[in-house]
Formats: sequence, C-alpha cells, structure tokens
Amino acid sequence: MKKYRWGIIGTGRIAHTFAEALKGCEDAELLAVASRSKPKAEAFAREFGFERAYGSYSELACDTDIDAVYIATPMSSHYGDVLLCLENGRNVLCEKSAALNTAQLDEMLALAKSKGLFFMEAMWMKCRPTYLKALEWVRDGRIGQVRYIKADFCNLVQYDAADRLFDPACGGGALLDLAVYPLTLARDFIGDPKEIISAAHIGRDGVDLSNSIMLKTDSAFAAVNSGFEIPNRNRAVIVGDEGSVLFGEWFFCSCEVSLLDRDGCEVERSEIPNEINGYEYEIREVHSCLGAGLDESRLVPHSSTRSVMQIMDKCRRDWGMTYEGEEL
Ligand SMILES: NC(=O)c1ccc[n+]([C@@H]2O[C@H](COP(=O)([O-])OP(=O)(O)OC[C@H]3O[C@@H](n4cnc5c(N)ncnc54)[C@H](OP(=O)(O)O)[C@@H]3O)[C@@H](O)[C@H]2O)c1
Repeated sequence: MKKYRWGIIGTGRIAHTFAEALKGCEDAELLAVASRSKPKAEAFAREFGFERAYGSYSELACDTDIDAVYIATPMSSHYGDVLLCLENGRNVLCEKSAALNTAQLDEMLALAKSKGLFFMEAMWMKCRPTYLKALEWVRDGRIGQVRYIKADFCNLVQYDAADRLFDPACGGGALLDLAVYPLTLARDFIGDPKEIISAAHIGRDGVDLSNSIMLKTDSAFAAVNSGFEIPNRNRAVIVGDEGSVLFGEWFFCSCEVSLLDRDGCEVERSEIPNEINGYEYEIREVHSCLGAGLDESRLVPHSSTRSVMQIMDKCRRDWGMTYEGEEL
C-alpha cells in the first residue's frame, strides 16, 4: 500500500486533532512536524510518533521527503506559510479560512497552478459522508428547488485577548473562524449569491464577535449567523419546495442528516459514525487526489474556497473591518 508522508506546520489545538486522525489512517505516515519552538515540535513529535521535529517552518517546507503539508496556523499566517511550502515544492492542505482575503488566496492558487502542486482548503465538512449524502439528495431532486437555508455556527467563547480568535494580528473574528462553514454550505446548495446583506458586532479589538449574513440568489435565500457570544446547538436546514434536509447539531461535523417531506415527516435518515474523529475523510481525499495526480480536489474545489472568500471580503468591506495593511 502506498503511504503518504505528512508534515504538519503549527502545534496548536487543531494540529493535535488532525494528528490523531493521521495516526489512525493506515496509508498515512507521520513524518515531520514544525513549530516556531523546537522543544514544542519535539514534544508534539513524541506525543504522536512523528519521525522528524523542526524548530522552524522553513526547514519543514524544504523537506523533500514530505508528500503533503498540513498548515494549522492562525489565519494571518496562512498566506506566508502556504507560499513558503509551495515555493519549496510541497503539496498543501491549509486550514480554514485559507487566507485573510481573496487577493491572498489568488496568489496561493496561482502559485500552486504554476508549480503543478496540490492545494486544498481543509474544509473537512465537505468531505464528510453525511454532507455528501445531503448533496446527493438535493442533486437528485429529493427536495425540489432549494428555496431557503438556515445555518448557524455560534458558541460562547470567553474573551481572552491572547487568543487568536480575538486578535486582529492573527486574523481573528467570527467571520473567518466560524461563518466560513455555514457560508460554504449555503453556497454549495444555492450557488453564488447575487446580493449579500450583513451586519456585525465589532468588539474592542476590532474583530467581529458576532455576525448575521443574508445571501440571495434569483430563486433562494440563505440566513447565516455566527459568533462567540451566542450559545447555540447549530443545526442547519435546507428547505426546498418539496421537502427539506435537516442536519443534526453542529451541522458541519454532524454524523446525522435527515430527509424530510413537505410536512416535516422523516422520509430517510443517514447516520454515519466517524471512523476516527471525523478528520479522516479530508485526509483520504488528499490521498486520493495525490494518488490520481490531481492538483485540486473535486470535493473541495478552489472555486468554492474562492467564492466564499469573496463573500467574506464583501461582508468585512461593509463593516469597515480590515486587518493590518490590508486593502479590501
Ligand atoms: N477544521 C477544524 O475543525 C478547525 C478547528 C479549529 C481551528 N481550525 C483552524 O486551524 C487554524 C489554527 O487554529 P487553532 O485553534 O489550532 O489555533 P491555535 O491553537 O492558536 O494554534 C495555532 C498554532 O499556530 C502556530 N502559530 C504561528 N504563528 C502564530 C501566531 N502569530 N500566534 C499564535 N500561534 C501561531 C502556533 O504553533 P507553533 O507555536 O508550534 O509554531 C500555534 O500553536 C485556524 O486557521 C483555524 O481556523 C480548524
């Protein structure tokens, strides 16, 4: 069996979760991890069994034994980290949101294309079996024409000035951290919006703590809320003129999705438990693309990442919320 050799950049929260999934994938090899601090990289390598630990991201980017690099740094670092990896010939899976804005993303995509390298945003939701089941139902016309989507990603996060979520220098804010999921879902099921109306609570540090976004196409609406100030169970519903699709709580990682008729009665239900922790599906997608020599995933195409980034640019432009040195 071909084994894909992985490198990880950044040793924070999601890097741990991802490494756990990698460890459980039999065709993945945990080759290298990089941190800005060598002792942190060494501790992470010991914890998960990585062979190599680097004290800088550039050392890892230059490691030609690596088949794919997973970038798990804050949003503001993605641009530099992705370019570093691509320039050194590495394939990249980069955490969401892939960049701060469309201009950064376009540079990443152009470089990946010119180098013939694989690039994918780690939008794991789009690789999950329940999500693919929902797409199948809607594509098969099971709910008729999609008319309305309601999808939220809200939770209560204690303010901490040191947390990247609240720090503009790290690309903080609920939009790039949370709204990217319901916006991706909305765009998948109603297409690119013709109108975008939004509002946000901007906190003391200059990033959005909560936001509400409405998307409109010729035939459908989507209402998306996200934020750090609202406790919510975050279900998502896609309503068509002949039925609806209802995701379980925390829709983006839900293992349950139901197909309902027009009266709200369940017609079909899909329950697919995670095999590891849910991140195995995006890892398998990367392996499958690399195995097929593709530079872009069919499940998470560049066009999807870019369209959602454009929506987020428009929201932030309307809110007057820019990151340092950024022109939107
Ligand atoms: N897919 C998901 O379910 C999911 C969940 C959570 C987060 N995410 C995404 O994953 C990325 C990382 O999120 P996280 O929650 O893991 O963040 P985190 O816990 O703060 O970790 C980020 C890591 O990035 C590195 N880093 C590089 N520059 C940094 C800087 N200026 N400030 C702080 N850390 C810096 C650090 O690693 P070193 O010190 O080792 O260099 C740090 O441990 C974000 O893009 C986020 O949106 C995805």
